[in-house]
Amino acid sequence: TSLETFYEQVGGEETFHRIVSRFYAEVAKDELLRPLYPEEDLGPAEERLRLFLMQYWGGPHTYSDRRGHPRLRMRHAPFKIGFAERDAWLRCMRIAVDEADLTPEQREQLWQYFEMAAQSLVNSWF
Ligand code: HEM
Repeated sequence: TSLETFYEQVGGEETFHRIVSRFYAEVAKDELLRPLYPEEDLGPAEERLRLFLMQYWGGPHTYSDRRGHPRLRMRHAPFKIGFAERDAWLRCMRIAVDEADLTPEQREQLWQYFEMAAQSLVNSWF
């Protein structure tokens, strides 16, 4: 029903798991993005993004229980995020979103959000 959250409408944790795992499979192969990730194992970063997105779209608040307030601008400050990094991130996410089992409207809603969010995290203009 319309009372369902977006999280529930798209299929809950399983759908976010699928999207974020596909996204990180691309990040692992991306020569611009991969070196930005401080840890050898991308698993913990994958879990943080998945829990954040689940919470953002109306699912469980596990992200904030573990990590506190998201403060995404602050948490990305240690990494140089220019337009090339933003575009690489969105390229990986585009593949993940396109391969998920979503309606065109759901896909568009998710995509609009990712474009806005990625733009808002650019912190280097040269
Ligand atoms: C963390 C890069 C955009 C959400 C990180 C990390 C890196 C990174 C290197 C640290 C990995 C880790 O958690 O260990 C980037 C780049 C982006 C980008 C290059 C390009 C614009 C985004 C966007 C979102 C996002 C658009 C949300 C929609 C997160 C979250 C974390 C994170 C939730 C974990 C924060 C924490 O709890 O510590 N990102 N990111 N990122 N990113 Fe991004």
